[in-house]
Amino acid sequence: MNDEREFNAGSIPDQGHGAGAPAAPARWRDAGRPGPVPRLLQVTESLRLRAITPPDAPDVHALVTRNQPRLCHTLHWPRFIRQYSDTVDFCKKAADTFGKSNAVYVMEHDGPLAGVVSFNVLDVPNGCADIGYWIDQRQEKQGLVTASVQALMNAYRAQRLVRRFVIMCATPNQPSRAVAERLGFVREGVLAQAEKIGDEVFDQYVYALTAD
Ligand SMILES: CC(C)(COP(=O)(O)OP(=O)(O)OC[C@H]1O[C@@H](n2cnc3c(N)ncnc32)[C@H](O)[C@@H]1OP(=O)(O)O)[C@@H](O)C(=O)NCCC(=O)NCCS
Repeated sequence: MNDEREFNAGSIPDQGHGAGAPAAPARWRDAGRPGPVPRLLQVTESLRLRAITPPDAPDVHALVTRNQPRLCHTLHWPRFIRQYSDTVDFCKKAADTFGKSNAVYVMEHDGPLAGVVSFNVLDVPNGCADIGYWIDQRQEKQGLVTASVQALMNAYRAQRLVRRFVIMCATPNQPSRAVAERLGFVREGVLAQAEKIGDEVFDQYVYALTAD
């Protein structure tokens, strides 16, 4: 079901975050069978998302290690990246499962790798997906994550793959909450003590955006 062709999100009418958007079908459930999972998304002229592959391991590892202390403040997994082979294993597993149970994309900004945007859970039969993201500190505050998530949602809606998008984040994670709120996600509730980050446990906001 994966699609090797480029999905040029920028060529579609804009919804205000740099990535164009085909309008979601009015009645999503009636719109027909899902299309292929996109592997390449051109978000803007200088920003693209590409399905992760095993050869990305050196660049992903360099980015994670450079940002590790910062990432450990808001995410649990970075503290378990202890050696290069951990990232090799991650990239291989993510590539193997791409488009099946999840979909991890590397963000390329003016060429180099800037971060990762992913569907940590991709449930196409149910039309639901959970979104995750992190970006290099040097690339923050330019709107790259917001534009990338918008482009992903546009593409997956257009292919009738996902109807309901979810972002979950620890309640104090203001930059992550801002991404969801900037994109029009609705805060559906709070899960008590749902997220462990290091030795601390946090309540978690659930944000969702649905196609109809
Ligand atoms: C969460 C995280 C990905 C957000 O990154 P970010 O750079 O703030 O998000 P964006 O790329 O969408 O940029 C938004 C910022 O750019 C600014 N911006 C500039 N141009 C913009 C544009 N064209 N469109 C939107 N925002 C723009 C916004 O004002 C905003 O800055 P502000 O928060 O000071 O108002 C980042 O902080 C991160 O990697 N954190 C660590 C990992 C993490 O916590 N991940 C989420 C776990 S739930």
